[in-house]
Amino acid sequence: MDEKVVLSLCEEIKTKFEGVDTLNKLNDLKQEYMGKKGIITEYQNGIKDAEDKKTYGMNLNKVRNTFDELYSAKLEELETLELNKKLESEKIDITLPSKKVRVGSKHPMTRIQEEFEDLFVSMGYDVYDGPEIETDENCFQKLNLPLGHPARDAQDTFYLENEYENYLLRSQTSTGQVRVMEANEDKGPIRVVCPGKVYRRDDDATHSHQFMQIEGLVIDENVSMADLKGTLEMFSKKILGEKTNVRFRPSYFPFTEPSVEVDVTCFKCGGKGCPLCKQTGWIEVLGAGMVHPNVLRMGGYDPEKYQGFAFGTGMDRFAMFKFGITDIRTIYGNDERFLSQFERKDD
Ligand code: DAH
Repeated sequence: MDEKVVLSLCEEIKTKFEGVDTLNKLNDLKQEYMGKKGIITEYQNGIKDAEDKKTYGMNLNKVRNTFDELYSAKLEELETLELNKKLESEKIDITLPSKKVRVGSKHPMTRIQEEFEDLFVSMGYDVYDGPEIETDENCFQKLNLPLGHPARDAQDTFYLENEYENYLLRSQTSTGQVRVMEANEDKGPIRVVCPGKVYRRDDDATHSHQFMQIEGLVIDENVSMADLKGTLEMFSKKILGEKTNVRFRPSYFPFTEPSVEVDVTCFKCGGKGCPLCKQTGWIEVLGAGMVHPNVLRMGGYDPEKYQGFAFGTGMDRFAMFKFGITDIRTIYGNDERFLSQFERKDD
């Protein structure tokens, strides 16, 4: 391999590289010169027959180096070109409007519960959240409803089976009274509300097998029925409107003595009489009374020293009144057509 061959080979290589405009073509060119049967490879194999091996080798290297340099430069050039093409085709238009993100809203029961809790917290109450699976003792016995008591029938509930047969799904949040009294170690005053889910064997437009109650319990020295009335009056006015009045009717609950049913002014007709209030002007919303001495005693309190009042109500009914819901079951149906009517406003 003499100088002339070197020069003409280098020229030939240069011209060929100029014609290369894709990575595929570049690869073909590499095969043509450096592949197993490539031109440069063939020259390399010919070294064994050369007379002046040193000069042959040096000249061959010149050709090789020329190829390698041109190859690297071309590779870089084509790769950059390819990358730019890709970037161009994948360009993102950040000025395009984005896909709409759907934001949920609070469930009507969450709204009511928060409203109740805020009100009672503002009146100095704590909020207690008890378990939904309860013992018979906490749900009934310690609330003055011993085994076989007829008032249990009104709250026919779901019992667990086998080794858990002493357990049931609580039928009333009054269980919170028992738990809070027992947990209060110093047996001092209590002011608490217990909101939560309760369960009964019911299923119609105004009764669901699962619904939500809130229970209130106040224990202190010198607590009277007047405190209960004042509290419920305040509660009704704040939740249902300033013009709302409260009426107590004598009633019976095993855990309170005396016991009352509490009516509020009909919020539809303002007390004039309408189909909702069955022309009476009043709507029944609550059960309440003075905590029965037996209940105080079983909770570890001395009824000679302490008195208390308690009340309990279904929060679902308030949600139905407030939001105009006619069937309680829709509250728990998880139907988006229902839920999306409670738009996100101040959440
Ligand atoms: N637990 C009763 C019920 O579910 C409601 C109730 C009535 C709660 C009177 C009370 C009360 O705390 O004093 O029907």
